[in-house]
Amino acid sequence: MIQTSRLLLRPWRPEDRPPFAEQNADPVVMRFLIGPLTRAESDAYVDRTEQHLAMHGFCKWAVEALGVAPFIGSVGLTHVRFEASFTPAVEVAWRLHRRFWGHGYATEAARAAIEDGFTRVGLTEIVALTTLTNFPSMRVMERLGMTRTIEFDHPAVPEGHHLCRHILYRLSR
Ligand SMILES: CC(C)(COP(=O)(O)OP(=O)(O)OC[C@H]1O[C@@H](n2cnc3c(N)ncnc32)[C@H](O)[C@@H]1OP(=O)(O)O)[C@@H](O)C(=O)NCCC(=O)NCCS
Repeated sequence: MIQTSRLLLRPWRPEDRPPFAEQNADPVVMRFLIGPLTRAESDAYVDRTEQHLAMHGFCKWAVEALGVAPFIGSVGLTHVRFEASFTPAVEVAWRLHRRFWGHGYATEAARAAIEDGFTRVGLTEIVALTTLTNFPSMRVMERLGMTRTIEFDHPAVPEGHHLCRHILYRLSR
């Protein structure tokens, strides 16, 4: 578990799954991601995240806002699942329920996950990637001190799709 002044990044609990499915079904949350997801797809995502934690000792954590809500979304680190010029790589990723945007929670959680990645896990570099129009996410990357680098087509997004073109940010230890 990783604690910050306002947040707890922790392993997933069964009771996190319904609110996570709710946020994954929200077209506004998912507007820069391929989705929305069904309950089964959302649960499969959590299953993969739990497997990642068991294999690698880190994952996209469930995030709790202490004294505010037991689950506000997911933030953490994960191995990039596709091949590109910059892989193998570990990325930092975030997805919060809409109710919890605009409080600095994503940046606070990501900063803590990155710190854990560089210290406990021993990573030397962490990347972040998003579609070219996801300005809220790019603002988080910039607040984290990450450097904007190359553009690339995401191999999991169909060519010509408006979410295909992505930008890569990097941060060294
Ligand atoms: C990307 C996402 C996590 C960003 O959330 P966010 O709330 O804008 O980001 P932060 O948690 O860092 O909060 C920063 C905002 O909180 C405000 N804020 C309020 N109180 C604050 C505090 N105590 N400390 C810091 N910031 C605070 C900041 O001013 C800032 O607002 P601004 O961007 O309008 O200037 C959110 O939009 C999201 O979940 N999107 C859907 C999923 C998604 O796109 N994921 C990324 C895929 S790559």
